[in-house]
Amino acid sequence: MTQPNLVTSFDRQMMQRCLTLARQALGKTAPNPLVGAVVVQAGEIVGEGFHPQAGQPHAEVFALRAAGDRAQGATMYVNLEPCSHYGRTPPCADALIAAGVSKVVVGMVDPNPKVAGSGIARLQAAGVEVIVGVEEADCQLLNEAFVHRILHQRPFGIFKYAMTLDGKIAATTGHSAWVTSPPARSLVHQLRSSCDAVIVGGNTVRRDDPLLTSHGLGHDPLRVVMSRTLNLPLEAQLWQTQEVATVVFTQPLVNPTMQHHLQKQGVEVIELSTLTPAAVMSDLYDRGLMSVLWECGGTLAAQAILENAVQKILAFVAPKIIGGVTAPSPIGDLGLTEMTNALTLDRVTWQSIGMDLLIEGYLKR
Ligand SMILES: NC(=O)c1ccc[n+]([C@@H]2O[C@H](COP(=O)([O-])OP(=O)(O)OC[C@H]3O[C@@H](n4cnc5c(N)ncnc54)[C@H](OP(=O)(O)O)[C@@H]3O)[C@@H](O)[C@H]2O)c1
Ligand SMILES: [Zn+2]
Repeated sequence: MTQPNLVTSFDRQMMQRCLTLARQALGKTAPNPLVGAVVVQAGEIVGEGFHPQAGQPHAEVFALRAAGDRAQGATMYVNLEPCSHYGRTPPCADALIAAGVSKVVVGMVDPNPKVAGSGIARLQAAGVEVIVGVEEADCQLLNEAFVHRILHQRPFGIFKYAMTLDGKIAATTGHSAWVTSPPARSLVHQLRSSCDAVIVGGNTVRRDDPLLTSHGLGHDPLRVVMSRTLNLPLEAQLWQTQEVATVVFTQPLVNPTMQHHLQKQGVEVIELSTLTPAAVMSDLYDRGLMSVLWECGGTLAAQAILENAVQKILAFVAPKIIGGVTAPSPIGDLGLTEMTNALTLDRVTWQSIGMDLLIEGYLKR
């Protein structure tokens, strides 16, 4: 369906504009994708829009509204295939046809195999010219969590950690504030604003008393704690739930007094018969979440990796050395005994963030 020979640099520029518009709703659209749309008439932008959140109109509808009569005979750019089914809103493919749009440039097809291509087919059947696959890699990247959720019926898991040059995430005492410098920490706040939930284990709450918000940089993710013992502090930043919600997952009948104490402060407490990363991800999927940021220590991280709850790794490496034979490292025991069995990453990139290094990649499965 892709016709790269017909794609101009103007098309690519307009698709990038769609992605910029879509990003305005980062972290707010779950379970829906991030979508931006631009209407162009005679080389000029006459309407723009993005999907702000689930239940609101789709990006195409906002862009068509803004364009008004000038949508007639225009080209619509949109980073995801227009929908063709009745969801909470009528199909966008029909709205485009009704508005008289003559050409639609699509970044990527709908990842849901059951509907993939049907919006495009509907447009083509109505005589609309369709080009697919413009800036596709960037479109896929922006919606990687949405795609993963659709294909695997699980949220997309990102494991982020910060370690010293000698591979430690804390000193032998457990003290860890701070491994990286301010620019890296600010990037983590941004990352949180693009995620739907952030998870830590009980030990991280006891040792670090983290806040786990975006520090005003944008949307705040749901804060999630996994604790088997509920041996947690009575006072913690995570229990202040007036502005940002917190959920604590535990096991049945554990420490009812603490459960009650947490609930009184507005913390939701969920008992799972088996408290595992996979079971928590399943619950978060049922809540409609798309992207989950694991900010836990090595014990929980190892379990999350073993249970396929982590797809992407973000490792910050700080140019400092703390030493300590028992100082914790980012990932606990995976049961691997030979280096030849090491988990490997693909699509690896690295960049410097202030003094620190950020390595990103995807776990190969
Ligand atoms: N530099 C960094 O990027 C970074 C990030 C996070 C943490 N840290 C450091 O890491 C240390 C804590 O490491 P940690 O490995 O103990 O991390 P953790 O994030 O506290 O995870 C372990 C805890 O998770 C809970 N848990 C619930 N279900 C579990 C399951 N199925 N498997 C394993 N754990 C489960 C347990 O809490 P209960 O004991 O309450 O039952 C357990 O103690 C701290 O020193 C902290 O400062 C550093
Ligand atoms: Zn739509």
